[in-house]
Amino acid sequence: MTEHQPWRRILFLSLFVSFFFYSASVYTSGTALTGVPNASESAYRGQALYRENNCTACHQIYGLGGYMGPDLTNIVIDMEKGPEYAAMFIEEGTDRMPNFDLNSEQVADLVAYLEYAGAAGAYNPQKGRMTWYGTVEYERD
Ligand code: HEC
Repeated sequence: MTEHQPWRRILFLSLFVSFFFYSASVYTSGTALTGVPNASESAYRGQALYRENNCTACHQIYGLGGYMGPDLTNIVIDMEKGPEYAAMFIEEGTDRMPNFDLNSEQVADLVAYLEYAGAAGAYNPQKGRMTWYGTVEYERD
């Protein structure tokens, strides 16, 4: 049974060729995000404030964090919510969210951070859709 059948060679060769082209395409396609602005100074300060005040205890960015409050990834770029809406919550707090006594510059920094988070990607599991090749795509509002 050592005799090689031609169809096996053809099969092996075609697998080899597909593997070669697949690898070449995986290793040469870039990973850089396109259309995402660099984070501003204000957004960096906002990120630090987000950590210092432990917003993540109750909120998620890209689904990571606590679950008492909503995911904030796209809140600022959301057409129905937006920056003023987000600022109002951060300034005033609610029955369930503490008022952190932040000054207007700190509020603006937090909004800038949330705006940056939104510009960097979309996160809304309810709107997620499985593609035919197995990844999930999100629709932006
Ligand atoms: C103790 C939990 C808790 C912490 C800590 C907290 N929040 Fe909240 N936040 C909430 C809850 C709960 C809501 C939803 C409104 C409500 O039910 O009162 C909310 C709502 C919001 C909203 C409006 C979201 C929407 O889609 O309507 C924003 C913006 C927000 N929080 C930002 C922040 C930021 C920024 C911080 C940190 C400085 C923070 N929160 C810290 C609990 C919290």
